[in-house]
Amino acid sequence: MGVKKIRCSFCGKEEKDVRKLVFRKDTPNEGVCICDECTMKCMGMLMQEESAKAAAEKETTVSAADMRPSRIKKFLDEHIIGQDRAKVAMSVAIYNHYKRIENIHLDASDDVQLTKGNILMMGPTGCGKTLIAQSIAKLLNVPFTVADATTLTEAGYVGEDVENIIKNLWIASGKNIERTSKGIVCIDEIDKIATRGDKGRDVGGEGVQQALLKMIESGSVTFTPDSAKNRPQQDLIQVDTTNILFIFSGAFNNIGSIVQNRIGVSGLGFHSDPVAKKTDNDVELRRQVETIDVIKFGLIPEFMGRIPVIVTLDELDEDALLDIMWKPKNSILRQYERLFDIDHVKLTVTEDARRAIVKEAIRRKSGARGLRSIFEEVMLDVMYEVPSMENVQEVTIDEGVVLKQHDPALTFYKHAS
Ligand SMILES: Nc1ncnc2c1ncn2[C@@H]1O[C@H](COP(=O)(O)OP(=O)(O)OP(=O)(O)O)[C@@H](O)[C@H]1O
Ligand SMILES: [Mg+2]
Repeated sequence: MGVKKIRCSFCGKEEKDVRKLVFRKDTPNEGVCICDECTMKCMGMLMQEESAKAAAEKETTVSAADMRPSRIKKFLDEHIIGQDRAKVAMSVAIYNHYKRIENIHLDASDDVQLTKGNILMMGPTGCGKTLIAQSIAKLLNVPFTVADATTLTEAGYVGEDVENIIKNLWIASGKNIERTSKGIVCIDEIDKIATRGDKGRDVGGEGVQQALLKMIESGSVTFTPDSAKNRPQQDLIQVDTTNILFIFSGAFNNIGSIVQNRIGVSGLGFHSDPVAKKTDNDVELRRQVETIDVIKFGLIPEFMGRIPVIVTLDELDEDALLDIMWKPKNSILRQYERLFDIDHVKLTVTEDARRAIVKEAIRRKSGARGLRSIFEEVMLDVMYEVPSMENVQEVTIDEGVVLKQHDPALTFYKHAS
């Protein structure tokens, strides 16, 4: 019987062919071992993984030294498709806000105080307003909360008090008052508390605006840390809202006609453009919205006085919706592919099918939000059936499936006989 040759357990090379073989401690000179070459390879793999991880982390934050509007825009580009004008405007607004929160302690003795630039985002449903606000909070690494203006009530009425918004922000901050005071609050559906707008809510709308005013105007908000009422005074939490950034958003349907009236009547507005006089294009008109138009729409002047930045978002077009469907890391299509993948089934959605889904989303006027509900409808039956079928290899969704003309095509694994 010959002497057993000892080889690297990974590459199989013999001891004589490598510089060193490292053995497992408990089995010296036999059993499991690794050679110097494989050790180096493993090191390389580990380092590659580490640097990939570091790069991924870098992708979701921007270092303080690197914080510039162009860098913020690049970050937004990674998350939001289209909406270029809005992303540029937001990048500048956020850059200014960042400078402000970073210099809070420095400018105490300075004559020039940087005032807060709360933002109003205007755009149709499902076009990315909340997504932009969410992405910015991620970028700045500050707590973030979303509230719905329609559920808010004046103090003393049944409904949600505005103080609850700050309480939610405090919870999102990990109950850290210091972090809460630099957070971002997004208040959706702000157009629905307009006082005189076409479709606005009249009753109570102004009351809620007044209540919000107190909160956004630098002041402090006090709330009880839990839902238990009648807690002793010392249990109350107080948050200074001076540096909390408020981002309001809403669809502001028909505001274009208010702009049209202003431009048509005076034509002397600071930003007015004679060409715009002729256009009845709503997109163009919306882009020219000024504070005065929003006040006409029904937000009170004192409230608008605290929101110096107005950003308009456009309706997403066919190409943008198509990109949204599959390009982002967490896109709807990738999510479905993953769901099928878990069952070892390949999901194919043809180009025609994607276009048909986009067309339906446009018809429903629900922006990118519509993509998910249409997908849900298209996929429901097949998602019900496939898990209880055997050997399904691939599911193909084509235009006919989306148009409900036929069922998805299935292919099956062939059994080796
Ligand atoms: N521009 C976009 N780029 C990428 N994804 C988008 C974009 N717009 C919308 N989406 C997708 O649609 C979803 C809904 O968008 P979002 O919540 O931002 O809409 P919204 O403008 O706030 O609408 P609403 O007025 O109804 O609140 C997002 O979670 C995202 O998946
Ligand atoms: Mg929203």
